[in-house]
Amino acid sequence: RKRIRTRHFAQAKADGLKITALTSYDALTAQIFDEAGIDLLLVGDSAANVVLGYNSTLPITTDELITMARAVSGAVTRSFVIADLPFGSYERSADQALDTAVRFMKESGASGVKLEGGVRMEPQIRRITESGIPVCGHVGFTPQSEHNLGGHVVQGRGAAEEQLLADALAVERAGAFAVVIEMVPADVAERVSAALKIPTIGIGAGAGCDGQILVWTDAFGLSQGRTPKFVRKYANIAEMLRDAASQYAEDVRAGTYPAEAETYDNVVPE
Ligand code: KIV
Ligand code: NA
Repeated sequence: RKRIRTRHFAQAKADGLKITALTSYDALTAQIFDEAGIDLLLVGDSAANVVLGYNSTLPITTDELITMARAVSGAVTRSFVIADLPFGSYERSADQALDTAVRFMKESGASGVKLEGGVRMEPQIRRITESGIPVCGHVGFTPQSEHNLGGHVVQGRGAAEEQLLADALAVERAGAFAVVIEMVPADVAERVSAALKIPTIGIGAGAGCDGQILVWTDAFGLSQGRTPKFVRKYANIAEMLRDAASQYAEDVRAGTYPAEAETYDNVVPE
């Protein structure tokens, strides 16, 4: 179980092997996903919604994400861990972006960072990668720009296809090791994947991408409320937890928990 490096992602694309990725926000899930053989764990700013209960990714801070990235990084032996640069922490300039990326590398132990945007973020991606920090791009639907994109809408349709390709190519040119493509028609994502040398990691972008990523709480049924159509539900953890919690409460109320085997005797050890 050798640690995954950026070269393994390039190799996977060359060999036609799909890259597996999930989000993770804590040590508990990071250890489990690492054991399951997930190649890449993203400490996504989706933690704003998933963990902190906000209704967008915008409010989460660098400090909050660093704390989670440290927990995830410390729990894995094989998976490659990257963290999102949160909204407001990198857009202003390449200097600002590098400062934030350096904080993640120094304080969290992550192996790289992700940031949203194509052509408009080329200087940021270039500065960070030239400083020795692996960067993953993110194009198509970029949740930090949801107000500018008019909500959660599919990107890259029709005339927007060329801009999407230009964005992905800009990410590659700037030195990123991979790029997330979110909510884009399958044929468009397939074309972008073929045009790029670096691997594409799709979410709502069809099977033509070089890898797939999902928000783990959506895929495994812990998120409340409706999930996007691209999510396949592999488990219903919310139901399992609800059942376990009600059973526990029932046992406590009935006085059947704890049983004698679950208590200490009063024998003083020698
Ligand atoms: O924050 C996140 O979870 C993400 C993935 C959905 C790509 O950016
Ligand atoms: Na994100």
